[in-house]
Amino acid sequence: MKIFLDTANLDSIKKYSEMGIVDGITTNPTLLSKEKGNPIQTMKEIVQYINGPVSLEIVASTFDEMMDEGLKLAKYGKNVVVKVPMTMDGLKVVKALSSNDIKTNVTLIFSANQALLAAKAGATYVSPFIGRLDDIGSEGLNLVSEIVQIFASYDISTQVLVASVRHPLHVIESAKMGADVVTLPPDILDKMIRHPLTDKGLDLFLNDWKKLEKEHPDLKF
Ligand code: E4P
Repeated sequence: MKIFLDTANLDSIKKYSEMGIVDGITTNPTLLSKEKGNPIQTMKEIVQYINGPVSLEIVASTFDEMMDEGLKLAKYGKNVVVKVPMTMDGLKVVKALSSNDIKTNVTLIFSANQALLAAKAGATYVSPFIGRLDDIGSEGLNLVSEIVQIFASYDISTQVLVASVRHPLHVIESAKMGADVVTLPPDILDKMIRHPLTDKGLDLFLNDWKKLEKEHPDLKF
């Protein structure tokens, strides 16, 4: 399963990319609004820094305007994935962009029917927002399970990109279900890296090594 970082923060992107655990990036207008500086410049810098796919979201709502934005965003780099909202015009945009070999990520997916239609229109990725479903008392992970099952049954090549992830268990469950990608805010990646028993075990090893250094004053690797 691929791991994307769900952020527009370049420092975070650099930090986790250096660990070799980031396959791509997803951004949206809200994430860009949290960063200082010109959002267009930020998007371009992310695209240049990352080799993997970078989802950049269009903000227009009519077909012509959406196409114009999508084509402009696609020119930022070969790795750009145009993020398109799940609307009627959005589906037309997905069809037109994918016919031009431009990758798309259909965002704000809240039902398996929406995912099926986005795939049919030619989406490269569909993004079910599972945390936002949990927030209203629906089981977000059930949606992932449904989409994965439907895509597998019909050999659909559109990738399931699990979004709106709130905690590490969402990641484990998505992986067990066979999701292609999860996109994670940096704090969730932190929680996945850390474990109290790892910290405890490391303290013990380092303390024992200090004891050895006292017994052998010229100890060096
Ligand atoms: C995904 O592409 C979205 O940017 C993101 O996962 C939305 O998550 P949120 O519900 O935490 O805003």
